[in-house]
Amino acid sequence: MDPVDLIIFGASGDLSARKLFPALFQLDQAGLLQADLRIAAIARDDISLEVFLEGLRKRMTSYMGDNAPDDEAWAQYSQRIIYSHADFSAVENYGKLKGWLDDKRTSLFYLATPPSLFAPICEHLNSADCLTGDCRIVLEKPIGENLESSRKVNETLAKYFDERSIYRIDHYLGKETVQNLLVLRFANRFVNSQWDQSCIDHVQITVGEVVGIEDRWSYYDKVGQLRDMVQNHLMQLLCLVAMEPPNSLEAESIRDEKVKIVKALRPIDDTTVLDHVVRGQYAQGWSNENVVPGYLEEPGCKSEASDTETFIAIKAHVDNWRWAGVPFYLRTGKRLAEKVTEIIIHYKNLPHNIFGGGASIPNTLIIRLQPNEGIEMTMVSKRQSLKEKLSLQNHTLNLDFRDGNDGDRIPDAYERLFLDAINGDQSLFVGREEIEESWRWCDGLITACKSQGIDTKPYHAGSWGPAKAEILIEKDGRSWHA
Ligand code: BG6
Repeated sequence: MDPVDLIIFGASGDLSARKLFPALFQLDQAGLLQADLRIAAIARDDISLEVFLEGLRKRMTSYMGDNAPDDEAWAQYSQRIIYSHADFSAVENYGKLKGWLDDKRTSLFYLATPPSLFAPICEHLNSADCLTGDCRIVLEKPIGENLESSRKVNETLAKYFDERSIYRIDHYLGKETVQNLLVLRFANRFVNSQWDQSCIDHVQITVGEVVGIEDRWSYYDKVGQLRDMVQNHLMQLLCLVAMEPPNSLEAESIRDEKVKIVKALRPIDDTTVLDHVVRGQYAQGWSNENVVPGYLEEPGCKSEASDTETFIAIKAHVDNWRWAGVPFYLRTGKRLAEKVTEIIIHYKNLPHNIFGGGASIPNTLIIRLQPNEGIEMTMVSKRQSLKEKLSLQNHTLNLDFRDGNDGDRIPDAYERLFLDAINGDQSLFVGREEIEESWRWCDGLITACKSQGIDTKPYHAGSWGPAKAEILIEKDGRSWHA
């Protein structure tokens, strides 16, 4: 493998200090970075390398807690880094970068910048002749804000980079447990053979967050929870649950199967939206025993009439042979009662209950992605009792991923994603077609919400969303997993 240079645009931003530099640091500590890997940090601030490094270390330390770098580790890591200040939107600033790049090395350009800079950065890299040799580009979401704008971004990228050199990040795919979903499904025969409409009654995917919009009112108000979380993270989880086995772990095989699922999603239109979508917006409430403001009272609020959703629940259907008649209930929101990401597979009742005492107890498989990563399976067993001959109870088989992990730390998603981008493995990055098809489905849903006046219902911060979200599932005789 050629030696690699990482060029991080937006190096003084929040993402860089919170995720990117700590992830690279952990990889360095684990001996997983090539000894000669170089990092060019590029940002607008006109400061020296020393000042940049000092500020970076301070910020990393505050995010990394016990894992923060000590002096020795920092000295080893920081010698990889150079700093260059530049206004990315001006082509004349790219000459210095050109001088530093080396055609014999792989250049990995990481755009940790606002999306409005994606196109100018690519254009200027090209005009300044920086795109010679093996070049890859890594981008963060959002890739557009609807189908049309995402196409534009993708078209710009395609002018300068081959699809095989474009690494679109959905950080959920880098989470260890999300990758484990593939292993659970495709390395366990008993799971795999029970994974369809003949055995499964319905699927729930919940991504609950305790945080509010965290000083991002201006950004968030334009997107809302559907574009911020469903179009990407929940869609990826749904695809991994619903897709057919890929014929290999090659990026293309996995992407092809995921695209089929997005295309098979039944459109939610004017005739179905009322029964299939609930939108919510948090009002004042409690979080971690503190009173917290409602969305419209958050600092930076610019419109007290905003109807942007901070919560959404959706009943979706995948129209294919495997999933016919199996609803997928999705819900996600800010300022909910708990930070939790979990997928619940509810199996069907057995056709006939020979044990008496009412309905049989259906099995559930709970795949917990965060926190307390693991898998639980509820099994029915006999209560040990002489009085009652055959009384049944639910027992849980518990697989805790924190046990038997090398060390106690579960690696952060960005560690895996950096490693894969460096090694040229695209299987955990999102392909162009997946993104565009996902936007197509979301755009339809958004249009239907607008035309049918599906406005947001208030919910108290610290709750599980508006009461209507309970009704969405309860009217089908089911309930959200508590
Ligand atoms: C980001 C969203 O993509 O994911 C944020 O923009 C959200 O709004 C975050 O809070 C959630 O990520 P995680 O890894 O904390 O579940």
